[in-house]
This record gives sequence, C-alpha cells and structure tokens, in this order.
Amino acid sequence: MSRRPLSTSPSPRPAKRAKLDHLTPDDFKNGVFLAPMVRSGALPTRLFALKHGATLVWGPEIIDKAILHSKREVDPATGVISYNGVSRAIFSTHPVEKPYLIYQIGSADPDLAVQAAKTVMEDVSGIDLNCGCPKPFSTHAGMGAALLTDPDLLCSILTALRREMPSHITVTAKIRLLPSQQDTLNLVERIVNTGISALTVHCRTRSMREKDKAVIERLREIVDFVEGMGKGIAVVENGDCLGWEDAKRVRAVTGAHSVMIARGAESNPSCFSSTPLKDVETTLVPAYLRLSNYLQNHWSLTKFCVNQFKGVRVDVTKADSHAMHQALSHSKGYSDVKDIMGLSSGEEEFNQILKAIEDNPPRERRMILDAGVLPSKLERNEPQVTVTPEGTQNPEPPGFGAPFQPNDLGRILTTIPGRDATTPTPGGGLSLASL
Ligand SMILES: Cc1cc2nc3c(=O)[nH]c(=O)nc-3n(C[C@H](O)[C@H](O)[C@H](O)COP(=O)(O)O)c2cc1C
Repeated sequence: MSRRPLSTSPSPRPAKRAKLDHLTPDDFKNGVFLAPMVRSGALPTRLFALKHGATLVWGPEIIDKAILHSKREVDPATGVISYNGVSRAIFSTHPVEKPYLIYQIGSADPDLAVQAAKTVMEDVSGIDLNCGCPKPFSTHAGMGAALLTDPDLLCSILTALRREMPSHITVTAKIRLLPSQQDTLNLVERIVNTGISALTVHCRTRSMREKDKAVIERLREIVDFVEGMGKGIAVVENGDCLGWEDAKRVRAVTGAHSVMIARGAESNPSCFSSTPLKDVETTLVPAYLRLSNYLQNHWSLTKFCVNQFKGVRVDVTKADSHAMHQALSHSKGYSDVKDIMGLSSGEEEFNQILKAIEDNPPRERRMILDAGVLPSKLERNEPQVTVTPEGTQNPEPPGFGAPFQPNDLGRILTTIPGRDATTPTPGGGLSLASL
C-alpha cells in the first residue's frame, strides 16, 4: 500500500478546541470509558467509541522503551499523527481525540516512564500506568501486575510522573484486585496519595482469567475508602460491563464513579450508546473499513478488529454474516473489500465523527444516575434491585455486603485451568515494512 508523504508540521485539520483544554478529576466521574486494549483499541475503534458515546478513551498499553526512539510524523492529508519506530508505527492518534485520550504506559522504571510520557504528551490528555497486565512478558520485567506486589516501585513511578508532567496532563493508574481486601485497600491508599487523578480497578485478581466472573461486589468498599480519603479521586470500575445500560447496573452495585469497558467495545464500539448499532455487518463494518482506509490504518489491524465485531442481528442473517466474514478472511487489503465498504468515502465517515463529537462533546456526556442509586456507606441499608440485561457476563447483581474473597483466593484461583487473560504485546505496533 502506498503511503502519502509525511510531514512533521501540525495537522491542517486541528480538533476544535474544547472549552477546557485539559482534563480535571471531575472528567473521570459519571463517564463510560473505552478500556486500553492492545490491537483492539486502535485509532478507528477509539474514534467510533467517541462518536457513539464514550466519554474518554484509553490507548493500548505501550512499553516505555518502545516509544522513546520513535519519530513523530503527521500525515498532512488526514492529520493522523504516527510515532514511527525503525520498522513500525508504535502509536497513532489524531488531534480530534486528544481532549479525550489517555495514553497507557507499561513500565517498571520511573525515569523511563517519564521519558515515554514526555515523548507523547503534546498529543494526549493523560498518562495511565498499567499495573494489571498478568502476562509473563510484562510481569517478568517487573511491569504490569508485578507492580501490585512492589508498591514502592509502583508508587515511585506514579510520583515521578506526577512530579515531571505538566499539571494539565492527568496521571492515572489501572490496577487489579489483590487476593486480600485489606491488602487492596492498603495499596489503594498509597496509590491515591501519589496525587493521581483517577484509579481504575479491574475487578479480577492477577490469577483470574477473562472467563472468571469479575468480583465487582468487592469494589463498593474500595470506593467508600477512596471517598473517605477526601481527595475527590474517581474510582473507575472495570470488568464485565457490556455497555451504556449495563454501566448503570455496575455503578449501582459498586458505587463506582465511572465504568470502563473492554471486550464489550471490542465486539461493538457503539456499545457506549444507549442505542448501540445492531446488524454490525451492514452498519458498523462498512463504516469502519471506510474510516480505516481513509486514516491508513494498517490493514492487518483493521482486519483483526473487524473480525471481533458482533452484535444483535435483526435483518442480517447468519448466512449473510458468515459470507461477509469469509470475504474478509480471504482479503489482503482494502482493495479486496470494496464491495463491503460501499460507495461512501472514508473522509465522509471521518467528518461524521467530527460532527458527532462537536454536536455532543464527549466530556459533557454524563451518566447522572437517579438519586439513591449511589447511596453513601452510611445511607445504605437495603440491597438495590438492578436490572441485568440479557447476555451479561455478570448476571446476578451481588447483594451488598457480600462476603469478600478469602485471603487465599489467589491460591485457589491459580488452580483453575483456562487460557491467560488477553494481554498487551510490547509496543502494540505494526510493521511499516509490510505496508
Ligand atoms: C484485546 C484486549 C487487549 C487488552 N489490552 C490491555 C492493555 O493494553 N492494557 C490494559 O491495562 N489492559 C488490557 N486489557 C484488559 C482490559 O483493559 C480489561 O481490563 C479487561 O478486558 C476486563 O474488562 P472487560 O471485562 O470489559 O473485558 C486488554 C483486554 C483485551 C480483551
């Protein structure tokens, strides 16, 4: 595929300036966020998520060293900014997502984390530290979930980021639960004291896999604890939330200030809407292909993402869906999927996204719940009855005051067979050589 010439000059199509040009701790409250996802959290997915209601979007984890020697280049035609390594694009973004974009770092070194953050800070609004990846490539180097058992290192990275980053760049962290609730609270206290703006808690322990139900009932006490610290920090729930409607259930159960969605958005990036797209084969897929082609998203990445899309089918038959996936699996580039893409242009698709963001600015989208849905610790007497949508992976809203996991939960869970949780790959980049 031929690439347009690159320039280092600013984009000709800058994002319309938001009223406030930086995030505040309040921007992490009452929102529904796109989770960091290597591969699946590509630029077109983030833009569709924003178009369809996501409040903030996290980029895929990128290991600190991977971005350090990259060259920042801007495509003058589209405005896409690429951080290119020797042979691959390490990270791509567009100015339109900057006001809502959190860049996630994988690191086990405060200096490298700061250098990585400084490399990208002109194009992002916040820096997040991954403290939850359980894969050996990450943990053996002391990164990801390994940080959970090295709180001194974890907090020194966050402290360094907060100290060295300009104040308009937020610093946040994403952790998993520890097997013991008390250990989790102790860790959370230290993390919140580093000066972060928000804390995401993936409600699984390091040894739990995706197929294990997230233990979201443990979050309520953590939320109360953080609120009790009086710093106004948002606690973001992550784990088994399927979309906008389901986020209400998750917030009612957990008291979390916001909810972050990964696999629900991987299947359908419009899940952030109260009316997510149905028949994704005819609605989302063609539009996604057109946009990706326009933005010159690497074909293999686009193909991977499109293959994950699935949703409620109304007019599309199983046979139609199968035929489309067959056509996709045999295609080697955008020119092979022209029939699926249709006649509209990718630029039109992009302009629709710009308009949707302009008409309904993501940071102003707020999930304000009815009074009483999020009772404080003192007000809470009766269990809330919450509605669980069909197909949710976490079907029974746990009763409040459900017993916490025993201290030896980690030991028990390590004996459960199952595949490893989906995990970031270092860099998350793509080979430019193969373009
Ligand atoms: C394809 C994929 C890639 C992921 N990559 C990352 C990542 O880069 N950083 C991270 O912190 N978590 C990553 N995760 C974990 C998710 O952010 C999230 O914590 C987890 O999937 C639980 O949320 P869910 O139940 O909504 O899927 C990834 C998950 C998936 C499915």
